[in-house]
Amino acid sequence: MKATILSGLLVCCCVLAKHERKFPSDFLFGAATASYQIEGGWNADGKGENIWDHMTHTRPEVIIDKSNGDEAADTYHNYKRDVEMMRELGLDAYRFSISWSRILPNGLANYINEPGVEFYKRYISEMLKYNITPMVTLYHWDLPQKLQDLGGFANPLFPEWFEDYARIAYEKFGDRVKHWITFNEPREICYEGYGSTTKAPMLNATGVGVYLCAKHLVLAHARAYKTYDNEFRATQNGLCGITISVNWMGPLTDSEEDQFAAEIKRQAEWGLYAEPIFSQWGGFPKELSEIVAKKSKEQGYPRSRMPEFTEEEKQFSRGTADFFGVNHYTANLISANDYKAWNPVPSLYNDADVGVYIPPEWPQSASRWLRQAPNSIYKALTHLHKKYNGPVFYITENGWSTTPDAGLEDEDRIRYYRAALNSVLDALKAGVNLKGYMAWSLMDNFEWMEGYAERFGLYHVDFESVEKTRTPRKSAFIYKEIVRSRTVNPDYEPPNRTMWIEEGH
Ligand code: NOJ
Repeated sequence: MKATILSGLLVCCCVLAKHERKFPSDFLFGAATASYQIEGGWNADGKGENIWDHMTHTRPEVIIDKSNGDEAADTYHNYKRDVEMMRELGLDAYRFSISWSRILPNGLANYINEPGVEFYKRYISEMLKYNITPMVTLYHWDLPQKLQDLGGFANPLFPEWFEDYARIAYEKFGDRVKHWITFNEPREICYEGYGSTTKAPMLNATGVGVYLCAKHLVLAHARAYKTYDNEFRATQNGLCGITISVNWMGPLTDSEEDQFAAEIKRQAEWGLYAEPIFSQWGGFPKELSEIVAKKSKEQGYPRSRMPEFTEEEKQFSRGTADFFGVNHYTANLISANDYKAWNPVPSLYNDADVGVYIPPEWPQSASRWLRQAPNSIYKALTHLHKKYNGPVFYITENGWSTTPDAGLEDEDRIRYYRAALNSVLDALKAGVNLKGYMAWSLMDNFEWMEGYAERFGLYHVDFESVEKTRTPRKSAFIYKEIVRSRTVNPDYEPPNRTMWIEEGH
């Protein structure tokens, strides 16, 4: 009798545990891409030049394989096949970006390139036809070159230019797009593009450009948010947020010094952009801004290299997001004294002055910076949840790279996705208000400075072929089953290797 009750209880617990490890039915599963990385058609039908067109054409040697996005996966012509792939995977949502210079060739809003607008309208209609929710990023790194010529993000008028562009996007597409992301990864825009040479426009204004760009980017985001809020929300009824790269930065040891170092690193990596928008007080992160002010003085600058927000600007930017988009890939362990690398003076990393350690036993992808870290999504999301009082989150990117010759049997990508999605389940269980997850990426694409040498796709793309043939990798079948079953089954093996479209898609 006792044994029966016990085993009954056990069955009950297992069912419950299994039930708990399920994604909610309204959780949005999707995949993500970005305009310059997939579209091609770089000068098609009136599109203007952007900073990646300009840089790859004038300085091809800065890209590892001297390639560019002139053709990429040619989504400009293959968009129907892309939507077919979304249907094959059974996706609920798809995140893509609009190329600013495709709809405003000169960057400014006096002239609209209608064929560019029509392209996005066709693309969006094709998704909606199959109930796939479009999630649109307004800016994924491809600034119109004409605006860069005027200083780009360093120009204090940048927030106005961005507001004008955002308004046109809401007007043209907002009847059918309900999820807007203003910027993708401010850190990569500002630190990598303005504060170093790792992304266009390679300005390398170390220790100055990054902070100037950060302030104007935040103000531009706030303007675009307010424009949506004041002029469109009542009729269009959508959401507007921002996507920030949040790789987990934890302390190397429990010592107070390492804990403080990790906090400074978090402020330098994402706090610069998250704090002015999501904190209650607004403005740049306190400790980092004190450090920069002090160092600037010692270095002979008449004022801090970090241009503080005025009270009015703080007020203006605070609370300007309906959700927090998180791009998450990996983790670093941060130390106050060990593992320090040389950094230029002045620079963001010289200001932060911490050491970074990455355990060699964490599995390595094809990308130098990307290793599989234990339960890092859970760590990052629960931290942000607590810090910013439980905002709505979307994971807007997460994924793994392989080499071009790695083939279709991508067991390491499968291992990464399963671990990541288990970490997502842990975060959900802890009460994080996470509404969706976008895999990076739907298909192989132009990986910026790494060209086509690193592949992130669930679908392999044959860039040599005229059609840019797309073929599902094994991970595509595994992801499809996760989306379908709303669970992560570690033992699932696809029965055969043909993609099919489920009814209803
Ligand atoms: C984040 C960026 O948003 C995306 O463009 C890039 O390809 C992936 N990380 C992988 O590096």
